[in-house]
Amino acid sequence: MRQIKIFDTTLRDGEQSPGVNLNQLEKLEIAKQLERFGVDIMEAGFPASSKGEFEAVKKIAETIKNVSVTGLARAIKSDIDIAWEALKSAKEPRLHIFIATSPIHMEYKLKKTPEQVIETAVEMVTYAKQKFTHVEWSAEDASRSDLDFLVNIIEKVIDAGATVINLPDTVGYTTPKEYGEMFRYISENVSNIDKASLSAHCHDDLGMAVANSLAAMENGATQIEGTINGIGERAGNAALEEFAVALNIRNDFYPYTTNLVLKEIKRTSDLVSKFTGMSVPGNKAVVGRNAFAHESGIHQDGVLKNTLTYEIITPELVGIQSNNLVLGKHSGRHAFKDKIIQLGFDLTDEKVTEAFKAFKLLTDRKKEVTDDDLFVILMDIQTDI
Ligand code: KIV
Ligand code: ZN
Repeated sequence: MRQIKIFDTTLRDGEQSPGVNLNQLEKLEIAKQLERFGVDIMEAGFPASSKGEFEAVKKIAETIKNVSVTGLARAIKSDIDIAWEALKSAKEPRLHIFIATSPIHMEYKLKKTPEQVIETAVEMVTYAKQKFTHVEWSAEDASRSDLDFLVNIIEKVIDAGATVINLPDTVGYTTPKEYGEMFRYISENVSNIDKASLSAHCHDDLGMAVANSLAAMENGATQIEGTINGIGERAGNAALEEFAVALNIRNDFYPYTTNLVLKEIKRTSDLVSKFTGMSVPGNKAVVGRNAFAHESGIHQDGVLKNTLTYEIITPELVGIQSNNLVLGKHSGRHAFKDKIIQLGFDLTDEKVTEAFKAFKLLTDRKKEVTDDDLFVILMDIQTDI
């Protein structure tokens, strides 16, 4: 089993979700829960972005002692200085510094030549290393960058002291095959790559962030970055709970392990959803309301006979108490009878048939039949002698 480090950026890239703004206390509560969840590194924020953000990162760095805390900085001295002030009391102060490397970003956003980008990157990594022991350097928009340019700049930032090289798919443009090939190319062509580790950071614009992260891992990445519930800029980042559960459930296919405590997933997801105000879609993998719910009669019958028929993940694995058989118009007699017993009724077969008919009539008027609805039907039938 190969060990994969989990870099959580819920408090930085996750907070970049449009409309999300966490205060210091909310950030600290999420940070404590991320520590219980077992992430290896947490990106607490972008200290130079505001006074409040600086204070929140500082507080997290002072409080969280079982996880390495990091903060983001642009490749400018003042960002690095501010990040140092916020992070210096962390157990293992770590800086995450980035500069764009794709032709479109260098020309239009940075207005720098590729040579100037290399010069700035090396200068700022060197500067950061005077303060921080651990420096992660990100090639923003790596997936749209020229591979040989990446090889060249990565060799130089490693010589300047970067210990983690992150290759983000900043705009969620890449595919698993292409992203995996990029990691392979970098691993095979960067002469000093043994002095650093490779990290993947994926966005979900084409819905491939988790698949791309898995592909990176299979091609040399030993650190995966993502957020809880997949929140983040635009369509969000790779959802860490999905990545972690995929590794666990398909360990026949992925011989990799993490330090994550999977039974903390539900609690972490709920907390992030509550504080960010971003509700989790019902059909979201792993943590959505419907992820362990079964509505059709055929599925409910199968699950009642053996849960493995339609459940590949046990709810307990991710900290959910049990699955949920939702009674609706597709439900069958088996789940209905099971519910009757759960509600404490003991009806003859004839009465069950009668109740089932009444229930089916109700499902034409109501999408989901609640326990209260059933109670009314069952009381009526039980007392109708
Ligand atoms: O997506 C991205 O490129 C980023 C960088 C700041 C690492 O979030
Ligand atoms: Zn990002």
